[in-house]
Amino acid sequence: MRTIRHCCSRLSIKYISVILILSVLLAGCAGKRDNVQQEIRIAVLMYDDYDTFVNSMTKHMTKWCRQQERKDGIRITLDIVGAKKSQLTQNDQAQKFISGGYDVLCVNLVDRTDATVIIDKAMASDTPVIFFNREPVEEDLLRWDKLYYVGAIARQSGELQAKIIIDALSDPEKYDTIDVNHNGTIQYVILEGEAGHQDDIVRTNVCTSELINAGFSLEKLGDEYANWDRDQARTKMCELIDRYPFQIEMVIANNDDMALGAIDAIEEKDYILDPFVVGINGTEDALEAIRTMKLDGSVYNDSKGQAENIMEMAYALGKGEAIPPTVELTFDKYVFRPYSIITYDNVQKYLENE
Ligand code: GAL
Repeated sequence: MRTIRHCCSRLSIKYISVILILSVLLAGCAGKRDNVQQEIRIAVLMYDDYDTFVNSMTKHMTKWCRQQERKDGIRITLDIVGAKKSQLTQNDQAQKFISGGYDVLCVNLVDRTDATVIIDKAMASDTPVIFFNREPVEEDLLRWDKLYYVGAIARQSGELQAKIIIDALSDPEKYDTIDVNHNGTIQYVILEGEAGHQDDIVRTNVCTSELINAGFSLEKLGDEYANWDRDQARTKMCELIDRYPFQIEMVIANNDDMALGAIDAIEEKDYILDPFVVGINGTEDALEAIRTMKLDGSVYNDSKGQAENIMEMAYALGKGEAIPPTVELTFDKYVFRPYSIITYDNVQKYLENE
């Protein structure tokens, strides 16, 4: 009897231990989507560390998370990494976050045509992905219902940039100050962001075709890539000024950093002409340059709105919930935030919003 009872108690201890271990394991597995979830882990993968606009988005993401934590009491781990413009590095980073059990990946692709590896890994581990700023091709996004894209309507940025120029050229007094040599044609240069980027291709094509459709006579003197970068744009603009010492009347830049780089070159070279310069994004430095009348205009790319939408989506997906109605989804996949015009007349409003 004694032996049997002893044996039974040993058995029940074993039984209880097994149940305990199993419940710990099950709790671990459920942790990702648990009702009593105490933490949401979000990874943000940027194509590069040094992009002004993308950095302003991550700044707004961090702010949103801290506010949300105070509101909900659920801890949010937000890990932000840059891929130094290498898709291979970014693929490895995605793998590490997935292996580390992160709930959601927010990916600013290096190569927007090369999302396959990240999507394969995400699907295999059931980790939703919100791509942002660098738009993957449609076939990739359509592969799974847990893939999203948050960005802005590239076409609209080109149209609005053209509108700033058209408004200026339509004012006879301003036209005269821009067409310095009074030959009835505006000689201009373009500073392009990055080959193959949706915002480069569309902004360049749409802006220039809108100007031509509006009936203005234009002559393109130069078209240079400066990779969204102020220093590179300064160098390229210095070369253009050397090549065209008396001709450049207008600079169309695919973003503000490059517009500011052009202004740096104009100042550095003490350029005899005072070209009309327009950018896109509405970064802090650009707003200040518009206020001080160095930059003639920009198109606001809503970094705050995009960042907040990404975080609202990531937070909901991390909790295993549906995307909240505050996020306007198109085809259950896309979020496009509208652009708007910034000139000296309304810059104050944008400065106050910073
Ligand atoms: C664009 C932005 C650029 C640059 C680029 C990076 O939308 O206007 O300044 O940040 O994205 O992908």
